Amino acid sequence: MKHIRNFCIIAHIDHGKSTLADRLLSATQTVSAREEKAQLLDNMDLERERGITIKSHAIQMEYTYKGEQYVLNLIDTPGHVDFSYEVSRSIAACEGALLIVDAAQSIQAQTISNLYLALENDLEIIPVLNKVDLPSANPEEVSDDIIDLLGCDLEDIIHASGKTGFGVENILAAIIEKIPAPKGNKDEPLQALIFDSHYNPFRGIEVIYRVVNGEIKKGQKIKFMATGKEYYADEIGTLKLNQVPKNVVSAGDVGYLISGIKEAKEVKVGDTITDAVQPTTNMITGFEDVKPMVFAGIYPVDTEDYEDLRASMEKLQLNDASLVFAAESSAALGFGFRCGFLGMLHMEIIQERLEREFDMTVITTVPNVSYLAYTKKEPDTPIIVNNPSDLPDATKLDRVEEPYIKATIITKADFVGNVMSLCIEKRGQITNQTYLTTERVELNFDMPLAEIVFDFYDRLKTVSKGYASFDYHPIGMRESKLVKMDILLNANQLDALSALIHADNAYNIGKKMCEKLRELIPRQQFEIPIQASIGAKIIARETIKALRKDVTAKCYGGDISRKRKLLEKQKKGKKRMRQVGNVEIPQEAFMAVLKLN
Ligand code: GTP
Repeated sequence: MKHIRNFCIIAHIDHGKSTLADRLLSATQTVSAREEKAQLLDNMDLERERGITIKSHAIQMEYTYKGEQYVLNLIDTPGHVDFSYEVSRSIAACEGALLIVDAAQSIQAQTISNLYLALENDLEIIPVLNKVDLPSANPEEVSDDIIDLLGCDLEDIIHASGKTGFGVENILAAIIEKIPAPKGNKDEPLQALIFDSHYNPFRGIEVIYRVVNGEIKKGQKIKFMATGKEYYADEIGTLKLNQVPKNVVSAGDVGYLISGIKEAKEVKVGDTITDAVQPTTNMITGFEDVKPMVFAGIYPVDTEDYEDLRASMEKLQLNDASLVFAAESSAALGFGFRCGFLGMLHMEIIQERLEREFDMTVITTVPNVSYLAYTKKEPDTPIIVNNPSDLPDATKLDRVEEPYIKATIITKADFVGNVMSLCIEKRGQITNQTYLTTERVELNFDMPLAEIVFDFYDRLKTVSKGYASFDYHPIGMRESKLVKMDILLNANQLDALSALIHADNAYNIGKKMCEKLRELIPRQQFEIPIQASIGAKIIARETIKALRKDVTAKCYGGDISRKRKLLEKQKKGKKRMRQVGNVEIPQEAFMAVLKLN
């Protein structure tokens, strides 16, 4: 065990985590040049295209240092706030972390919030100044920032370049010299932390874990403590570029397990694996059931595809346990599903997977967070509101609570004013302001999650000219003055467009919403009034004018119109439009409330 090192990499997006990880893999000959792809660790297609790490992975390297052989387990962490619980469990599986800071960009919000997580878990931090090859690199100043942040010495900072390979040997040496070997005892009852899992359609779920105490053996009967389920360890082993089956994985090491588990939801990240016969009494601390944060309706474009959509969602859920859904119906859209996602990125991924892997064309309604409503009759019993239409009638309502987050924003001193105004507009309360250096400021806000879901990140980029980084963590529910705004098209309420908004912003949002819908909904043969209302009260109105007759006149004439019909037919299924009553509504209109600025 004293020759094992478990570590992860903490870096802000684009600071070079994947490039440097690939360098470590080739320096340790874990991959041959032939096997090397553009970015090895991001092996899901979607991931590579988007250039982000969606799911974490682990990979084992072997390295000889001063005549002795070491096993280095690199535990990769997802790079997006939607997956922050997985990040926290990956960090909990390590003894050390490489803190990669871009020598031109310096420290950013994601670096800081993940660093705090690593420090809470007592990880040894190895600071790496990356991209020193860049002409715009500013090693002196960025080193000062790192020293201020960590309280380390200048000599502790390793200069590196993922591009040229410079500094990689020094990083490997520091991993061995500085990161402590895992502690643990292989003679104690089995205790292993699940920090990741993958779906394999042929072999079932692959569970990735770190053995804290004891040993896991091939064929052993094991138990997952949070779910209480028992399985046999059909196959275990360690992870190189491919799986390497073993008979035993011992305390301190990282490995995989295959037990013929068919459904992702049976395997919970953060859970403890133990022996079914001689279980440990201690579950590894920090287990949480991840809850979806953002909800939206998903409806088939063609109502006849409802059953197909259900089958596709069920299949998706087998390999993505964080997707939840329940059947719902909308007066406007018919039958569909209310789905829960970890965040907006997760929602986009699901929508994209439905289209690519299952060939489903869907309409997604405006996302909302999950609220708690209390009625006057039962003021102590919360009703979970995952769809604005489920909010009890205003006359019966006692109060509503919404989820809040703690936001960390790092920006340049020049933009502090702009960033603050934006956060205040988004109902944020500033809780802290720290000058990291004379130029760079860390701001902390408590804000409603709903305001982040809606266009916050784009606005932040604009007001800071791109010089702001942002990260957040949930901090619980708080009471808010929320009202339900409805939209009426042609005097018919369109339930799929209802939203819960703060009472103080209602008029403003109602007005903008009507304007936006007027832009987005194509003109039709007749005039269409658009109204926003709160209860019975109309707060805004716009009108979509009727098409002028001669525009359609051109379409007549046998041949052309037949061709057109044929084309329409072919395009069907690709065209995300929905006929509601006598009005055709494009997909964008359902998301209009997200794009009001
Ligand atoms: P995410 O996966 O999005 O979090 O990004 P990452 O942190 O893994 O960064 P990645 O390795 O994808 O690198 C981001 C960009 O920086 C890519 O365009 C790399 O080619 C470039 N890059 C990475 N390391 C270096 C370096 O040392 N020098 C220079 N000049 N460019 C680098």
